[in-house]
Amino acid sequence: MPTVHWRNDYTVKVSIFDDHHKALFDAINRLYDAIPEGYDQENAASVVEKNAIQQSFDFLLQYTEYHFKAEEDELKKHEYPHYAEQKKSHDFFKNKIIVAIEDFQNSGEIEIEFLEFLKRWLIDHILVLDRRYSNFLNSKGTI
Ligand SMILES: [Fe+2]
Ligand SMILES: [Fe+2]
Repeated sequence: MPTVHWRNDYTVKVSIFDDHHKALFDAINRLYDAIPEGYDQENAASVVEKNAIQQSFDFLLQYTEYHFKAEEDELKKHEYPHYAEQKKSHDFFKNKIIVAIEDFQNSGEIEIEFLEFLKRWLIDHILVLDRRYSNFLNSKGTI
């Protein structure tokens, strides 16, 4: 299964948030790893395999919520001018995961395209919206 790796040029210049982003990549990789080869064609996963997928999904959602809240709290505290855009983007992603978990619970299906979406979205969000707060937070002493 394809994996996603954090790279130095993804840095947002706030070490704790870089650590969170690395953990989020790991959580996406864990979800990839939980899906057995051929799962999307056959949908014949065992209960054990489904539990592993469910657990990886739950962890991804929990960690995503944890990270988004940490960023939102820090940005709000310093009255970041683009806070609303961050919040909206976070809520969009969180909802995508919640809906995918509901779909998985109902149908037992998980689309590989959805994992590709998670990966792509996260990288784009970090590179565009998160990196926009780097200088702002650094100027407030958050490094
Ligand atoms: Fe982030
Ligand atoms: Fe963010």
